[in-house]
Amino acid sequence: MRARAAASLLVVLCAVSSLAAQDLKLPNKEGTVKFALFGDTGSGSRAQSEVGAQMEAFRKKFPFTFVLMAGDNMYGSQRAQDFVTKFEKPYEALLSAGVKFFAAIGNHDESLQVNYKLFNMGGQRYHAFRADGKEVGPDVGKGPRFYALDSNYMDKSQLDWIEKQLAAGGDDWKICYFHHPLYSSARKHGSALDQRKVLEPLFIQYKVDVVFAGHEHVYERVKPQQGIHYFVSGSGGTLRKGDLRRPSQYTQVGFDQDYHFVLFEIDGDELHFQAVSRTGSTIDSGTIKRGAAAAAKEEAVKK
Ligand SMILES: [Fe+2]
Repeated sequence: MRARAAASLLVVLCAVSSLAAQDLKLPNKEGTVKFALFGDTGSGSRAQSEVGAQMEAFRKKFPFTFVLMAGDNMYGSQRAQDFVTKFEKPYEALLSAGVKFFAAIGNHDESLQVNYKLFNMGGQRYHAFRADGKEVGPDVGKGPRFYALDSNYMDKSQLDWIEKQLAAGGDDWKICYFHHPLYSSARKHGSALDQRKVLEPLFIQYKVDVVFAGHEHVYERVKPQQGIHYFVSGSGGTLRKGDLRRPSQYTQVGFDQDYHFVLFEIDGDELHFQAVSRTGSTIDSGTIKRGAAAAAKEEAVKK
């Protein structure tokens, strides 16, 4: 009898702790822009599917409508069947709930991915779109603007394109994402200095607020660099355990012990974030206020 009571207490305790592990830290307001981010997903591993399942568990509480893919969307062979086993199956629940995925191209991705409908790239290796809380896509007229770049080849035509896009991007959030991180404390590759050299001056000039990347199979929120916030999210389906250098001059918060994804909510000039592990634990959370908007408001108040 005592054993049975102890066992049922254990069940209750486990249920409580798994609920606690899945706490939502975001405001979850009506009408805000809700999305998720991950990178380096397409391994077809069990862990990739477990991350997908955890995302769906969170989506039921926090109805995000789209996911940014920071590249390496597929490893190894990339035949029609691989798009099923390395993408459609692991995210089946999200896809059937109507969640849209917007991919950037990584170093393992074959160029034909740009034509895969469910990656929403419109046949382009770099592309832009907006989200306004109701809809998301290249034709949405207002709201935060997202720019997906192909950081494998930062050629002149792409640099001209991103400069033009950023210049015309308006005064809402500007969020760039691509595969190679401009700042990283991971041992495997570290910061992508060639890409930093050509992109960072544009990001500063056109007041990009936040930049997402993958490539390093860890989570890292980088201390703001020249006013820009950088996240590395590269363990959606692959993991390089223990790969973060500690201490590092760049790391604000790092996590290299399990797979993860990140949830975001944009509410006016605030961007709330919560990074979640495969098992549902919160590994990082907080709020970023848009620097440019805050400065403009201050200026307006002074006048
Ligand atoms: Fe990569």
